[in-house]
Amino acid sequence: MTKSNVAAVILAAGEGTRMKSALPKVLHRIAGQPMVCYLINRLSTIETDQIVIVTSPVLKKEIELFSSVEVVVQDPPLGTAHAVLAAEEALKGFDGDVLVLFGDTPLLTEGTIQAMVEVRRGKNNPALVVLGFSPDDPGEYGRLVKDLNGGLEKIVEFCDANEDERKIGLCNAGIMAIDGKRLFQLLNVVADNNSKSEFFLTDIVGIARSKGWGCLVLETDDPDEVMGVNSRTGLAEAESAFQYRMRLSAMESGVTLQDPDTVWFSFDTQIGKDVVIGPNVVFGPGVVIGDNVEIRAFCHIEGAKIDKNAIIGPFARLRQGTDIGPDAQIGNFVEVKEARLDQGAKANHLSYIGDSRVGAGANIGAGTITCNYDGFLKSHTEIGAGAFIGSNTSLVAPVKINAGAITGAGSVITKDVEDNALGISRAPQEEHKGWALKYRLRKQANKDKMEKKAE
Ligand code: UD1
Ligand code: MG
Repeated sequence: MTKSNVAAVILAAGEGTRMKSALPKVLHRIAGQPMVCYLINRLSTIETDQIVIVTSPVLKKEIELFSSVEVVVQDPPLGTAHAVLAAEEALKGFDGDVLVLFGDTPLLTEGTIQAMVEVRRGKNNPALVVLGFSPDDPGEYGRLVKDLNGGLEKIVEFCDANEDERKIGLCNAGIMAIDGKRLFQLLNVVADNNSKSEFFLTDIVGIARSKGWGCLVLETDDPDEVMGVNSRTGLAEAESAFQYRMRLSAMESGVTLQDPDTVWFSFDTQIGKDVVIGPNVVFGPGVVIGDNVEIRAFCHIEGAKIDKNAIIGPFARLRQGTDIGPDAQIGNFVEVKEARLDQGAKANHLSYIGDSRVGAGANIGAGTITCNYDGFLKSHTEIGAGAFIGSNTSLVAPVKINAGAITGAGSVITKDVEDNALGISRAPQEEHKGWALKYRLRKQANKDKMEKKAE
């Protein structure tokens, strides 16, 4: 028994030559995630019986590293119709609706995918439904030619369109919902007699119509969701559209963005309520932020968990494995990596805290560095609750500063410091009375002598 009678075929075997890249097009990232993952994730939230990705041999190996979806190979890539044919074997016996999606059209929404299936199953049992859109600049998208009754008559690729057809504003988004019982009958007669000598999927519309089968267009009013990424410019446009979406959704869920257009999210950024984010903050993958956190301007944060009421920045960098406890504070020019700061701990100025644990309420003075790397291995620094690390302390790991201990400013600490003790390692200060005055007189006299000689 099938669940939904919907199968999805994602086309991703194209060479992506317009990207001018050694990386397959669909592995280029949007908000930190490869393009192709967007569709895979979206399809996993709606019910499908089967998801098949059509790829090149190189991409097959890459995709299998991060996804368990069924992958078939199209080699060589001879066009979008030829690509769907590569999934014929995988879809054997399936006679529900087949969604054809393009890996380079990652921002498609769940609602639109579902609407496509509904229209396909609706009135008059059309052979297929094509998703259309009317962008401000139709560029080189395929054009949708409608008949007098509003049905879809044919799709004309830009390269083969005449002047009148190029004036049509309604474009092919590339997404189709096709009756699985008729799909391969249509594909098998597609020819490559066009200016690119490719087997165009778009030709199945004309073929269906010649058999007397109906074809429909579902038009989306959001051109951003069907934006096809073909070049680096397209990639930047898709990134920008996705960021816009993320910003809106953050604000709608109770996050203040002081200057929304300058905040960059990752696809997986999770933010609690009443969080305030200042201008020019960038999130990499793997960030989870609790309620009432304040992220001040110009922070770069990735792979970090930040608990409630913490204050971060301005100008802080939190890297992989950072775990900031509640009420803790990380200030300007502080870098944290693989480190946990317990409740209320503070590192407010100019520090590097790596491979460390900092106890509750501990204070890390300005310029403190955990010397965690000896050129070969990383070592751990442990700082106890309530400890006070004096400014410009170098903590040479592995080392442990126990609870309530203090280190003297400017110390290089190489040995553990006991609870409530003072750890200090610096040359005792000397004072030489009148030395500075004598020094200046001597130096000036020397300089005068040299200048006289040069005259
Ligand atoms: C395609 C459509 C065009 C539509 C546009 C929307 C065709 C013939 N044209 O053009 O009408 O307006 O998308 O974005 O369908 N692919 C394969 N194997 C191939 C060729 C392509 O898997 O042999 C894949 C690509 O990886 C890509 C998708 O199919 O994910 C679309 O191919 P692309 O070359 O980008 O087509 P467009 O020129 O954008
Ligand atoms: Mg494309």
